[in-house]
Amino acid sequence: MTDIPKIELHLHLEGAAPPAFIRGLAAEKGIGLDGVFTEDGRYAHRDFAHFLQVYEAATGVLQTPRDFARLTTEVLENCAEHGVIYAETFLSPDFCGGGDLSAWRDYLAAMQEAADGMVDIIQLRGIVTCIRHFGPEKAKPIATCAAETAGDFITGFGMGGAEDVGHPSDYAWAFDCAREAGLRLTTHAGEWGGPASVRDSLDHLKVERIGHGVRAIEDPALVERLAAESVVLEVCPGSNISLGVYPQWSDHPIETLRAAGVLVTVSTDDPPFFDTTMTREYERLSETFGWDEDVFTAVNRVAARAAFCDEATREALLKRLDAT
Ligand code: ADE
Ligand code: ZN
Repeated sequence: MTDIPKIELHLHLEGAAPPAFIRGLAAEKGIGLDGVFTEDGRYAHRDFAHFLQVYEAATGVLQTPRDFARLTTEVLENCAEHGVIYAETFLSPDFCGGGDLSAWRDYLAAMQEAADGMVDIIQLRGIVTCIRHFGPEKAKPIATCAAETAGDFITGFGMGGAEDVGHPSDYAWAFDCAREAGLRLTTHAGEWGGPASVRDSLDHLKVERIGHGVRAIEDPALVERLAAESVVLEVCPGSNISLGVYPQWSDHPIETLRAAGVLVTVSTDDPPFFDTTMTREYERLSETFGWDEDVFTAVNRVAARAAFCDEATREALLKRLDAT
């Protein structure tokens, strides 16, 4: 499974930081990290709220553009080891200079330089992401950061965080701002929120992709709509199982959604938190649902077509997938 060329569309940069990387950085800076790690050195998380707390505590040791550049290199090396040839990563100006545009430009330049250094092995694009539980007002300067740095590398805008805070419509200004700057749009929904969260995100934020979206399965009319409107789901099954959205792999709706004609893709979300990699996701999908190389190629073609990249890059990705 490692050898299959893969396209990953849903990956949080800080969420992909290996625990050893964060521990090392904390030691360098003399920062204590109580409660972040389990005794055996993994990230601790009891439930989603605790996951977000641990995530933000761990992210707190990333404090400079150079820290984020080192992280970018580390994350891309790990992705490439699992056959990922193209990834899109969520980048949060909230964690990179607190939403200040000039600080964000410095962080972004450092991350982009790190990504440029890996381009022969793996290509990266950035999706600037606001954090829902920081509230709609905080989302506005983040959208401005996105709009002002839109280009070859920053190609999308999205939203992560706790889905139970506010309503998607509260964030419409941020998404309108990003859309007007030419950015492509995605948002987390249908992970913790039910089908209404997916519907409201499509209606109010006018996104073309949904992060997770799996709970759409609870509403057959919505499943039909997703298929009819070619909405792409960035599905992260291992994340859903680790966080308890579904008890076990056999309960996960990814195959039912795919069979209903919904465009599904596969990603890891925050891989070290969920003890996963792209290889592991593919192995579990193969074991649980019998997915074979043809299915994986088809899913990667969906991802290539849905990627927030220019057409020349897309054509090159599709060619690379066809070659296998
Ligand atoms: N931020 C990082 N991982 C996330 C997830 N799985 N859901 C929402 N926000 C996140
Ligand atoms: Zn996510």
